[in-house]
Amino acid sequence: MLVLEAYGYLWVCPSGQPRKALFAFPEFSQDGRRIVDCDGIGVSVSGLRMVENFLDMGHFPYVHASYLGEVPQTEVAKYDVSVDESADEIWATNCRFYQPRTSKAATTGLEVQYAYRVMQPMSAMLYKTAFPRPGEMDAIGLFVQPHDEDHITAYCLLSYFDDTSTETDLIAFQHTIFGQDKPILESQVPKRMPLQLGAEMPTRCDAMSVAYRRWLSTRGTSYGTVR
Ligand SMILES: [Fe+2]
Repeated sequence: MLVLEAYGYLWVCPSGQPRKALFAFPEFSQDGRRIVDCDGIGVSVSGLRMVENFLDMGHFPYVHASYLGEVPQTEVAKYDVSVDESADEIWATNCRFYQPRTSKAATTGLEVQYAYRVMQPMSAMLYKTAFPRPGEMDAIGLFVQPHDEDHITAYCLLSYFDDTSTETDLIAFQHTIFGQDKPILESQVPKRMPLQLGAEMPTRCDAMSVAYRRWLSTRGTSYGTVR
């Protein structure tokens, strides 16, 4: 087993032979950003389901009403999905969504720009418009520690442009959002990810989910899947 310390976490490679170097995270050490460790939350679901939910904008107005979305502005506009073959990562870019309150620092609604990135089957980042600095993107890391195939601790790390909010407030905002996702995640049936074609019907707004499942299938991921 190989253990690496990076970005405030310990990364474990059970086989001892990593396929590639740990993913880059330049925002972790960029000047002007605040790094806030939101700690981990236990969730009774597969880590793959956890990541897929993180990548899904379609649930914002329903699950995160008044924060990350609002009925009737429910449409997920078309966005671009690509695979970075050299880094073996998936990207969703040119995503946008109207959000009543995108972050702790937000004081008004905003058409927020998003990008998503999957670096490992159970590690993903999202980049979104930084409310205090509209030309910059905040970064949020989701790093999943599986305890078994149906139980995880999901860690959340913020790399934010925010000079005013307290650390407690930033963590509390994130926990509010996460607390809204947790019961949805835990009611997923099955708890593991079905990867066989047609198991769950994708729609246009699920382009990232489709790409994620295909990427998992291509690399032969089985841990946390329906077999
Ligand atoms: Fe959510």
